Amino acid sequence: MNVLVTGGAGYIGSVLVPMLIQDGHKVTVIDKLTFGNNLKELSGFTLHEQDVLDIKPDWLDGIDAVIHLAGLSNDPMANFRPRDNYINNSALTGLLVYFCKQKGIKRFIFGSTCSIYGCSSEKMVDEQTAVSPIFPYGLSKVQAEFAIDCSADENFKPIIFRQATVYGWAPRMRFDLVVNTMTKYGVCNKKITVHNPKLWRPLVHVRDLANAYRLALNAPEDVTGTFNIVSDNYTILEIGREVRETLVNNGIDCDLEILNQEDPRSYRVNSDLARSVLGYTPKVTIAGGVEEILQKMGDSLQPQWNNPWFINAEVYRKKIIAEEKTFEMWKNFLVNFQSEFDHLNVKEWYQEGP
Ligand SMILES: NC(=O)c1ccc[n+]([C@@H]2O[C@H](COP(=O)([O-])OP(=O)(O)OC[C@H]3O[C@@H](n4cnc5c(N)ncnc54)[C@H](O)[C@@H]3O)[C@@H](O)[C@H]2O)c1
Repeated sequence: MNVLVTGGAGYIGSVLVPMLIQDGHKVTVIDKLTFGNNLKELSGFTLHEQDVLDIKPDWLDGIDAVIHLAGLSNDPMANFRPRDNYINNSALTGLLVYFCKQKGIKRFIFGSTCSIYGCSSEKMVDEQTAVSPIFPYGLSKVQAEFAIDCSADENFKPIIFRQATVYGWAPRMRFDLVVNTMTKYGVCNKKITVHNPKLWRPLVHVRDLANAYRLALNAPEDVTGTFNIVSDNYTILEIGREVRETLVNNGIDCDLEILNQEDPRSYRVNSDLARSVLGYTPKVTIAGGVEEILQKMGDSLQPQWNNPWFINAEVYRKKIIAEEKTFEMWKNFLVNFQSEFDHLNVKEWYQEGP
């Protein structure tokens, strides 16, 4: 299959794209490389360093299926510039869906989030439960889902994945996701802080999630709709204990600090539908994921656990500030340049010619 992966150089994409190539798909990635080219080691695919917002219909020529991962990928990024969040998550998805339909691309698989369930820890939610996002990130994903849902018809068969919080090692590593963050603090500070022990979080390992995308690509055409992709639900305290125990078992002694900070984002999510319809069977445990991070960080080229490069919002904020500075510089330059020529009557000069 010819598969286009938007945002394929990010955390999830850097695990998924190699798997798709291995499966024999012809893969094209469009990514503006906010976090660098994390597919450098790979061959046998096409990478376009582009903003998907600039998409032209001919970029989709020959494509059979689209996996749409591009966008701002957490609350801190979305809150930093909510305007960009709605453009990159909601509007961009609508635009891409529009062009996919024009090109007759039937299969569109979208990386949404379980955080759109908002505060729902009292009872387990499923795909039928009304969503109630609390922050711009979740709201923008609901808007994107709406654009996809109401475009579905005989010729457009989307699959929406409401993904749990992802964890585990990836070529583009993120240390701003709960299991990965706790692992980092356990290793670097010898202390894991549990900010609110009672909150519920669904989790999924990045490789189990990538496998769900493979299943969606291979699913019969009539399989369409929304699926929660979760391995299991845990309280933050349970996650902290599990990460700590794994570190201790691997010779890294660390403490667990328990605070009681307010956070409304708590949800427990059922993923029976993905298991029964897609055959989704998550395999990796928290302990397995943490051990792999320890091992990969030990022998990979990215051993600086504390480098802000691994925190999406830090990188994003720096890039935006740098872009704004460059823009200001050019604006000032042009204003000054203009005044240099104010004394010329440009119109007269143009009419007279050289
Ligand atoms: N990681 C998680 O825990 C998680 C959980 C639920 C949902 N999601 C969703 O899954 C998707 C992928 O997540 P991730 O963790 O890999 O995110 P990521 O931030 O690591 O990767 C996103 C990639 O998209 C690219 N990108 C963003 N906007 C773009 C644009 N306009 N044009 C081209 N490229 C663009 C970035 O350069 C980056 O490489 C995101 O949409 C995210 O919201 C992630």
